[in-house]
Amino acid sequence: MAYELLIKCCDLGLKPLGVAFHVGSQQTDPLQWVEFMQQAAELYGHLRRQGLELEWINIGGGFPPTYQTTLRPFSHYAQTIQQALQQSFGVTPPQLMIEPGRVLVADAGVIQTEVILVAHKSREDVRRWVYLDIGKFGGLAETMDECITYRLRTFRQGPTGPVILAGPTCDSADVLYEKTSYELPMDLAIGDRIEVLSAGAYTSSYASVGFNGFPPLRTTVSSG
Ligand SMILES: Cc1ncc(COP(=O)(O)O)c(C=O)c1O
Repeated sequence: MAYELLIKCCDLGLKPLGVAFHVGSQQTDPLQWVEFMQQAAELYGHLRRQGLELEWINIGGGFPPTYQTTLRPFSHYAQTIQQALQQSFGVTPPQLMIEPGRVLVADAGVIQTEVILVAHKSREDVRRWVYLDIGKFGGLAETMDECITYRLRTFRQGPTGPVILAGPTCDSADVLYEKTSYELPMDLAIGDRIEVLSAGAYTSSYASVGFNGFPPLRTTVSSG
């Protein structure tokens, strides 16, 4: 389909520069870029034979910051992609364009939250339910399916125990982490501050409208 569209562009008198792809956000496997780069190279080869030389390739974003799991350094992704570019396209590869998003801004943001309830749902319940004043609808939309697992910081030093984390709305979907194992201090109490770390990407932007009476997330820029 891409081949047909690009040929059609030329027929219409347009000058296509290249193709773009996105391997999926928080992509922890660098080989994903390699696979699509090879597909693109094949396409560029077919087009060259028709007289169309594409000068650019846009490999999108997807580069992962570190949430809970330690990842390989960014340089590993860069090297893998650079090598794949040369292996796929040979000595005259197209110019590389990238669109990094979360990797640039995630670590720049911390969300300040407050514990609004600590509860057991039954006497047998080993895990406490910890409700925060932020949930899926107030900026933590990426906890959907527990995809993004933020690191949390508390200011109590005592021993920790397992918790289920939930947001403040009455929506049953507003559970942040139930399957992912999270531990918080045993003496955690209502009113305690919890910081959500590496929360600079896709948080305040998702919380652009109030849900269920909760206002959008307020952002401040610190000079430090
Ligand atoms: C077209 C496009 N490019 C780049 C990005 C940034 O992706 P990421 O934050 O995964 O790096 C996005 C994210 O939605 C996108 O839609």
